Amino acid sequence: MEASTWAPFVAAWFTILALFIFTRFLRRKKLNLPPGPKPWPIIGNLNLVGTLPHRSLHELSQKYGPLMHLRFGSFPVVVGSSVEMAKIILKTMDVTFASRPKTAAGKYTTYNYSDMTWSPYGPYWRQARKMFLTEVFSAKRLDSYEYIRVEEMNSLLGELFKSAGRPILLKDYLSTVSLNVISRMVLGKKYLDKSENSIVSPEEFKKMLDELFLLNGVLNIGDSIPYVDFLDLQGYVKRMKIVSKKFDGFLERVLDEHNARRNATQNYTSKDMVDVLLELAEDPNLEVKLERHGVKAFTQDLLAGGTESSAVTVDWAISELLKKPEIFKKATEELDRVIGRDRWVQEKDISSLPYIECIVKETMRLHPVAPLLVPRMAREDCKVAGYDIQKETRVLVNVWTIGRDPEIWENPNEFCPERFVGKNIDVKGQDFELLPFGSGRRMCPGYSLGLKVIESSLANLLHGFNWRLPENMRHQDLNMEEIFGLSAPRKIPLIAVVEPRLSLDLYSL
Ligand code: HEM
Repeated sequence: MEASTWAPFVAAWFTILALFIFTRFLRRKKLNLPPGPKPWPIIGNLNLVGTLPHRSLHELSQKYGPLMHLRFGSFPVVVGSSVEMAKIILKTMDVTFASRPKTAAGKYTTYNYSDMTWSPYGPYWRQARKMFLTEVFSAKRLDSYEYIRVEEMNSLLGELFKSAGRPILLKDYLSTVSLNVISRMVLGKKYLDKSENSIVSPEEFKKMLDELFLLNGVLNIGDSIPYVDFLDLQGYVKRMKIVSKKFDGFLERVLDEHNARRNATQNYTSKDMVDVLLELAEDPNLEVKLERHGVKAFTQDLLAGGTESSAVTVDWAISELLKKPEIFKKATEELDRVIGRDRWVQEKDISSLPYIECIVKETMRLHPVAPLLVPRMAREDCKVAGYDIQKETRVLVNVWTIGRDPEIWENPNEFCPERFVGKNIDVKGQDFELLPFGSGRRMCPGYSLGLKVIESSLANLLHGFNWRLPENMRHQDLNMEEIFGLSAPRKIPLIAVVEPRLSLDLYSL
């Protein structure tokens, strides 16, 4: 072809390109973004976010206000830090912000976003959510597993009794009970027994869960700056691949054995949550087919979601109470009055223990397990409070800041369960000043199970034991810092000493 023939095409092509760039430039110029710090090239505002991102974002929101715009590398991020903004993001515009960003954690640790937590908004997630709420977490099914929670609670109380008088690492005891409860409900227990033919020991499994939780919450640089993703600068992706391989080996065996049991029995009735998921996977009427890797991903979601969060919350509650003996006294007065000294607390007693409920709420206000909830993503261009939010912006709600807002809470940094006495504020996603489980379409589906485990373990720990710090440690010395992953546990796990409070025959459980 001669130059004179193709020159007009090239010129036309360049004109179109120039117009495209120019309109994008105009559009960007015209955008009215929420206030926020000026971003640097390449890193954006990542330099302002430390190892405790909720605290860094809290500081920034004091300067830029309750709706703030930042850039994490190449991606826009909006942070809501007030009741009003939480309500707009999680309620009024819930459906607009109902997706999740694509992260390496979702890709490598949840079978390419096949679980519920990281799957994008759409028919697959909607179906999963419906399945969880109607089948896996229905009130009837949760009630049918109450005997498991009772047995495991008894074993916790028995173990604590055996270690009376000696310093113990409380979190270890708490995560054992949560792991046992959840693994019996989900898997039917035997996989994590100490028996020889178990696939993984409980200790190894707890390490795997800790690693999974941490890697799902870290700020992985490759998620923000895609050009350096392949370098895996922090080594997180390598760790994600290792931990997901370990989980896969475990889950494969779980599914094989469940399938073998199902196939060997005619008219088999489901005994645990994996059975329920496998039964659903065979349903020809499902809108989106549930594949084997989906069953594995959901099983992992249940194990991970159910184990860490309750243990972290109870660990914080006891730590706060060790700093304030007068709260301990009030709680045990309530327990003695309502329950008496000759029996343990049962789940059905909790509604008659309002002060214990206030302690749980106050713990979740100051120590939310997920201080920034789980990141959401805008599904389309939209406006919030008059500001433009672009499609695919990552959206965080800082419930840690809301829990400390002096406009809502008097002496916000003080642990004071009395602030909830006689108040109608609940943790179930309707009261936007207290959102430990989030709210709206993406709210935690396991909240009722989580609350049952937290409330009944805390009530029994306070009922059955007097608590103190080890000799030579004063309550003023108790470090109350946290670390940040997908959950925010104590930086230094609590070490405490228990002594029995009830008559000794009650401890032979
Ligand atoms: C103390 C207990 C718990 C706390 C504080 C907690 C907290 C949360 C939070 C804050 C979210 C994100 C909500 C949002 O994005 O708006 C969440 C999501 C989720 N939680 Fe929980 N959780 C707890 C217990 C559980 C339990 C027991 C399970 C399952 C056995 C579970 C499974 C999940 C799942 C699957 C999601 C993702 C939901 C979705 O994206 O659609 N959680 N949880």
